[in-house]
Amino acid sequence: MEKLKALSGEHQLASYEDACQSFEWTQAEALFSWDLTGNVNTAYEAIDRHAEGELATKLALLYFDGEREERYTYEDMKRESNRAGNVLKSVGVEKGDRVFIFMPRSPELYFILLGTLKLGAIVGPLFEAFMEQAVHDRLLDSEAKVIVTTEALLPRIPVDQLPHLETILIVGDEVKEAGKIIDYRKLAGDASTDLDITWVDREDGMILHYTSGSTGKPKGVLHVHNAMVQHLMTGKWVLDLQPDDIYWCTADPGWVTGTSYGIFAPFLNGATNVIVGGRFNPEFWYSVIERFGVTVWYSAPTAFRMLMGAGEEAFEKYDLSSLRHILSVGEPLNPEVIRWGNESFGLRIHDTWWMTETGAMMICNYPTMDIKPGSMGKAIPGCEAAILDDRGQPLPPHRMGNLALKTPWPSMMRKIWKNDAKYESYFWGDWYVSGDSAYMDEDGYFWFQGRVDDVIMTAGERVGPFEVESRLVEHPAVAEAGVIGKPDPVRGEIIKAFIALRKGYEPSDELKAEIQKFVKEGLAAHAAPREIEFKDKLPKTRSGKIMRRVLKAWELNLETGDLSTMED
Ligand code: PRX
Repeated sequence: MEKLKALSGEHQLASYEDACQSFEWTQAEALFSWDLTGNVNTAYEAIDRHAEGELATKLALLYFDGEREERYTYEDMKRESNRAGNVLKSVGVEKGDRVFIFMPRSPELYFILLGTLKLGAIVGPLFEAFMEQAVHDRLLDSEAKVIVTTEALLPRIPVDQLPHLETILIVGDEVKEAGKIIDYRKLAGDASTDLDITWVDREDGMILHYTSGSTGKPKGVLHVHNAMVQHLMTGKWVLDLQPDDIYWCTADPGWVTGTSYGIFAPFLNGATNVIVGGRFNPEFWYSVIERFGVTVWYSAPTAFRMLMGAGEEAFEKYDLSSLRHILSVGEPLNPEVIRWGNESFGLRIHDTWWMTETGAMMICNYPTMDIKPGSMGKAIPGCEAAILDDRGQPLPPHRMGNLALKTPWPSMMRKIWKNDAKYESYFWGDWYVSGDSAYMDEDGYFWFQGRVDDVIMTAGERVGPFEVESRLVEHPAVAEAGVIGKPDPVRGEIIKAFIALRKGYEPSDELKAEIQKFVKEGLAAHAAPREIEFKDKLPKTRSGKIMRRVLKAWELNLETGDLSTMED
């Protein structure tokens, strides 16, 4: 390991052990302006506070999509998010309303998201790859009032089936206005760049991220403004953001990493934040690091594996020496990726563990801590993690069980939208139970073992098998479908579907391709099964539930276990 560069300079978290002894979340409050003014709004803390202070002319956002480059200071960000806020206000957006943003990454997306928050409205970011069904489910469930989108994505919004949707703002150059459709840029051009921010309560809703479980449709996880406390602190402790850092989080704001760490943590810390448009491509990514001199880089194992797969040739074309700190989230960080990081960058990739529901990092590797490669690290200061048995009792070190977190913490979800029962089901007494299995070692490091439920993590994206199965059975040829995650060397898992066909349909490669396309067009490309296997019949319980456990055992050649609930 002597090849590794030392992480340079003083770290924001001087000693992890000391902080764990003495840190209380109330100490973080003095770092926010609301501690003095009583006025709360995350967008103000992230942008305006800096724009009105010493960082006014500091670069806040650097954008590049392969062709277009744009640069914005904190002052610019304040002005542009005010303008966006005024556009939304002019179409009637008020505190608490749900405003969805469904567009490719661009600076405007970030202005609109921050502008929404400035009105005290709740923002719902949607991944641009979502297709009609996915868009419909989210807008309907949340009773969204406004969506901001582009002409290209408009056909995926089933307007007639969304009774609460009042306005569709289209961001584009030549927008044909009609009915609910309004030209965003026309309004923005005329909008004032002054805005009276709507002050909120720290417990007021801020952002709604839909995420998948093993049953039912995706659920709306609501985070409140108070989450900013944890975004700020983990940005310091874990990302180790320093005044001169150029920071790049590769996640899309449609996912929680792309908002908590693509927007809130960097801006709250007054960092310079790189935003990249366009699709993943190894050379393009390396070129971004070189172009902007990225120093702190937060990405995911699947991306690292793809870069690894692109080989040294791609790597050696670029000067990547600016990097000083690399972090990972979303999936297990395997030893070969860590090795690749050591050898390629001379840096150890720091793993972080958290979930949509936790709102921010919970278990991490810190610059000032000894890393045990393969471990997700230790709980952040101010939080407590444990492994519980199935009755909710903490287990001693090295016993595998349910990874749980002691409630509350600042960025904890406050609600599952319109589903209190689901929300309650996460908690066992004082503990939030993650759905991951893990163990803790004698030094308090946590080691990920897998999911307890059937949730699939493919290329870092969380997919619920139920959502895919529901779409599959809408296809005329499909009688029954069961979906599992199959281990994959690059993507972590891929989606595999077992399908029983209706009478009159014969298995064929054409039919497989057609079914894949059907899921892609209904949900999203990442939710489509990469593998399909036709079966005469699927294993079911007597109550008719597909037994995914048995499908998984078939796939992996494992024992099928207890089959007492299986029909015939
Ligand atoms: O299974 C864990 C996995 O991702 C799940 C959460 O997914 P999502 O809500 O989409 O959030 C992803 C990024 C915040 C977890 O239940 N996961 C997340 N981080 C890690 C991980 N698995 C292993 N190692 C990690 N570091």
